[in-house]
Amino acid sequence: MDDQDVLDKVSQAARQASAAGTVASYIPALARVDATAFGFAIAHAGTSEPVRGIGDWQVPFSIQSLSKVFALALVLAADGDALWQRVGKEPSGSPFNSLAQLERERGIPRNPFVNAGALVVTDRLQTLTGDASGALRDFLRAESGNPALDFDPRVAASERRHGHRNAALAHLLADHGKLANPVRTVLHHYVRQCSIAMTCQDLALATCLLARHGVRADASRLLTRSEAKRINAVMLVGGTYDAAGEFAHRVGLPAKSGVGGGIIAVVPGRCGLCAWGPALDGHGNSVAGITALDTFTTLTGWSVF
Ligand code: DON
Repeated sequence: MDDQDVLDKVSQAARQASAAGTVASYIPALARVDATAFGFAIAHAGTSEPVRGIGDWQVPFSIQSLSKVFALALVLAADGDALWQRVGKEPSGSPFNSLAQLERERGIPRNPFVNAGALVVTDRLQTLTGDASGALRDFLRAESGNPALDFDPRVAASERRHGHRNAALAHLLADHGKLANPVRTVLHHYVRQCSIAMTCQDLALATCLLARHGVRADASRLLTRSEAKRINAVMLVGGTYDAAGEFAHRVGLPAKSGVGGGIIAVVPGRCGLCAWGPALDGHGNSVAGITALDTFTTLTGWSVF
């Protein structure tokens, strides 16, 4: 089966499934997207083959928590294993914005992909760069080859107005002495990084960083092979929150979801993938995205298992 046959079947299955979900509305600007949109892209790592995609694969959407993977990569590249003293690497088994879990575990977030963990990563990136969200945007521009991608100020403003839970998480972290920067600064950069708009094409290309075991688009090495392995491992156990077991069971790839409806996934040594469908299930994962990736790994046999 060639890429086009696979893409056609993936799209057919995903579009049928997406009626089951609902678009995120706790960030009101996200609720304005078309619930029936669907896109999927495959970027083959280490080849000059063009990215292939289907549906709305070149329509920008809000990357939200997908940003957490790339922020983590930048911090790991600078700090190495020291980061794991501030953030765990275990599945959360709780919603991604749980306050109770952070309080119980005395300010050490379960993993870098729950919101508390991502706030700690952003705090560290801010210390390292002086402009965490700007550094992340520039990095994503380079890895996707799209110099025009940017923040969406409307989405950022909407999240800022309704971000009480993240503010509570950040204050709780500060209370435990876990933030080096002021709460306001960390929240500002976190919200901006989540508001970046990218297409499936951009994200599949950027995800090739992990498919190439830590080598950037310009062929320079950002992460050691072990660091890239660690990010993939944490994606597998925590990239889709408290549904990571179900996702691994169905798809069998390291992946990260965002409430904008995107899911990125890594086929190590082969390709970066991105699926997008705004309608989410109860865990905050794209219904169409999961079905698309499930269909993709079933048809190609490309999973890590
Ligand atoms: O902090 C938030 O709630 C959002 N900016 C991002 C959450 C997110 O994407 C979680 N994904 N499932």
